[in-house]
Amino acid sequence: MPHLIAILPGDGIGPEVTAEARRVLDALALDLAFEEAPVGGAAYDAAGHPLPDATLDLARRADAILFGAVGDPRHDGLARELRPEQAILGLRKQLGLFANLRPARLFAGLEDASALKPHIAAAIDMVIVRELTGDVYFGLKSRGTTADGLREGRDLMRYDEAEVARIARVGFETARTRRHRLCSVDKANVLDTSQLWRDVVIEVAADYPDVALSHMYVDNAAMQMVRDPGQFDVIVTGNLFGDILSDQASMCAGSIGMLPSAALDGQGKGLYEPIHGSAPDIAGQGRANPCATILSAAMLLRHSLGLSDAADRIEVAVAAAIAGGARTPDLGGTLSTREMADRVIEALA
Ligand code: NAI
Ligand code: MG
Repeated sequence: MPHLIAILPGDGIGPEVTAEARRVLDALALDLAFEEAPVGGAAYDAAGHPLPDATLDLARRADAILFGAVGDPRHDGLARELRPEQAILGLRKQLGLFANLRPARLFAGLEDASALKPHIAAAIDMVIVRELTGDVYFGLKSRGTTADGLREGRDLMRYDEAEVARIARVGFETARTRRHRLCSVDKANVLDTSQLWRDVVIEVAADYPDVALSHMYVDNAAMQMVRDPGQFDVIVTGNLFGDILSDQASMCAGSIGMLPSAALDGQGKGLYEPIHGSAPDIAGQGRANPCATILSAAMLLRHSLGLSDAADRIEVAVAAAIAGGARTPDLGGTLSTREMADRVIEALA
């Protein structure tokens, strides 16, 4: 039986970059089957909802999901639950994709593309493990009025010990596949959620004596990531802190068009997507860098299908294409989306 991969291209540059990642997967001649379904604004146009039942059903049936991006300015006026972005939030929640892996590394040759000084940027090779289905994003929310008649908004920051323990384990396991260093980022000097977080991470650490655990407050972590990003191997953190730190890490590592991500359920199922959005400003022009999606496909092979050798081949080929001077406009070059993917395919060993 071939592995079933759901391809959800979405909006804007999503269809352009997922098509190129698909070509790279085809070039590997693996035993894969593909099924495609609309998501986001494209699905709203076709079926009246950003995450139609048929798309969710395909996502559930598939062994893994390759996702492009959602978001379309034409839909900005819609009610919140019908906006394209609800599709990705719905998929994460419905499929229990609690662990977000965001590797950030600087590919040799892209030192000048980083927001940091080249010699500092060159050392970037980290994975941020972000909790994805809890925290202040999913806690109780309300808008109201204070006793004094002032408008008021609330979002409850909340974690329980099981949620912290399972993401901590993903952090430790990830560190085991790398340089065996895990930095847990919290705000335990101020927040009760963070004190629980730190207690539980320390308890889980007993099962991982081979991993060196450290703790850092999030404000310091933001500073350290710019001062000396090479100090980080794996970072594990909550949803809010991880959202902010991973965007920061992406810019340190060069272009947003280079960074992949995985959202995992801990049982093999995963959704893989570039960290960027639908980039309406360049959609339809063949200017998008497909590497982030191609590298997401590599993560899919590794984490959901157990095809680590094939994943390595893709990552080595992207590095070789970049080292050989292949550049889309975001990297200061002139290659089209398709030409960039061609260079990666040519570099496949
Ligand atoms: P964006 O990531 O789509 O674009 C930001 C900037 O980076 C733009 O100038 C864009 O041209 C450039 N860019 C992004 N990807 C690129 C690539 N592969 N190659 C070259 N340049 C690239 O973020 P923005 O503009 O804030 O959001 C656009 C839409 O995407 C919004 O509707 C937003 O909600 C949505 N979005 C969706 C995400 C998802 O589907 N997971 C994630 C982030 C944003
Ligand atoms: Mg973000």
